[in-house]
Amino acid sequence: MPSNQVYRERVVVNNGPHKWWHHRWFKIIGISGIILIVFAVILALLLNFVVFAPNKLETSTTPATSLSSLTTTISTPPLSSTTTSQVTLTTTPPQTTVTTTTQQSEWSVTSNMSDARQEHTASVLSNGKVLVTGGFNHNIGFLNSAELYDPSTSTWTTTGSMIDAREHHTASVLLNGKVLITGGVNDNGRLKSAELYDPSTGIWTTTGSMTNARDLHTASVLTNGLVLVTGGVSIGNIFLYSAELYDPSAGTWTTTGNMSDARREHTASVLTNGNVLVTGGDNNNIAYNSAELYDPSTGNWASTGNMTNARAYHTASELSNGLVLVTGGAHNGAIISAELYDPSTSTWANTGNMTNARGQHTASVLSNGLVLVTGGYNGRIALNSAELYSLFRTN
Ligand SMILES: *[C@@H]1O[C@H](CO)[C@@H](O)[C@H](O)[C@H]1NC(C)=O
Ligand SMILES: *[C@@H]1O[C@H](CO)[C@@H](O)[C@H](O)[C@H]1NC(C)=O
Ligand SMILES: *[C@@H]1O[C@H](CO)[C@@H](O)[C@H](O)[C@H]1NC(C)=O
Ligand SMILES: *[C@@H]1O[C@H](CO)[C@@H](O)[C@H](O)[C@H]1NC(C)=O
Repeated sequence: MPSNQVYRERVVVNNGPHKWWHHRWFKIIGISGIILIVFAVILALLLNFVVFAPNKLETSTTPATSLSSLTTTISTPPLSSTTTSQVTLTTTPPQTTVTTTTQQSEWSVTSNMSDARQEHTASVLSNGKVLVTGGFNHNIGFLNSAELYDPSTSTWTTTGSMIDAREHHTASVLLNGKVLITGGVNDNGRLKSAELYDPSTGIWTTTGSMTNARDLHTASVLTNGLVLVTGGVSIGNIFLYSAELYDPSAGTWTTTGNMSDARREHTASVLTNGNVLVTGGDNNNIAYNSAELYDPSTGNWASTGNMTNARAYHTASELSNGLVLVTGGAHNGAIISAELYDPSTSTWANTGNMTNARGQHTASVLSNGLVLVTGGYNGRIALNSAELYSLFRTN
């Protein structure tokens, strides 16, 4: 209902020069008209920003927040005015996955973890829960704690703690459902150690140690079930060429071929043919444009086409058509461009630029084929913006 104040303002506006207004019928018609207009405006706003919100992907936060002040039926969580984005992590119980793209246009708050953490890992387990491990917290320091998020109840529960506290580590869900944690760094320096989490018991056990301590490395589950770890930084700030393989059936590590470039903050993607594409990364803050391919059948690396841009802190996503999309990153500032790698020709081609330059962001291939890019650092500030990449040209 329109408030008295609104009503009064309208009367005042229309009052002055128009003596005919004082006629009773004009008053009734006028008041009815005002009420209808107010309802029409509210309805239009609801349709515009709630029902058809997906068509407004680049809308600023202003309309959404002004809408929430207009209607009391839309309760906006306190955080959303500062973190409004185009995609939401749904908290309603039946939804177990990230709801993609088009039906929602805000983030909603879900339960807090018990430990604040950064530089941690998150892995979607085969039972649908999400395992978060380790990281760093300025009050506590390096964390060994782990927590499970249950999308069906939107709650976190603590689970067994890792044996070693660590950040800048990797977490990989193995084909048997266990989670392999490798390396990282804590107060004792960079780590060789690796641990396995068993989702059925919530218990961590040590497994064989890597040959090299490393952090800011990559870990990829190969199609044969082995885990390939590449590069990173080791004790004494040594940037690593080396790569190692973990065999889950034996719990052991073996070295495999060295990359031709020592790199950290690079990417590693398992291609549909089973080879692993490593791209970019940096060595003492010099970013690479190079890319290399690992062949699991030989244990050797071969160089492949160079990216157009040198980049570190970027993302690489394997698309459903087999191409690999690389986005953003940093090299003398944040990068706006994106490129596609074609494994059949070993070549890179530029694809559309993102809207924002960003590094240290995320990119996720959604079930509808779009790639969701979120957040990151643009060289000045952390970003709350998110954008979607479409596989198919629409021309
Ligand atoms: C989460 O923690 C923050 C800050 O510690 C607090 O302000 C907020 O109310 C908490 N949210 C929930 C849902 O408990
Ligand atoms: C890889 O490089 C390391 C250090 O440079 C070297 O010790 C090792 O022998 C190399 N491994 C292979 C398989 O070439
Ligand atoms: C890739 O770039 C490097 C320099 O960054 C150059 O030495 C190398 O020859 C290039 N490789 C190809 C295949 O173009
Ligand atoms: C993409 O961005 C780069 C760097 O700003 C620019 O040089 C290039 O022209 C842009 N490409 C397109 C297609 O807009």
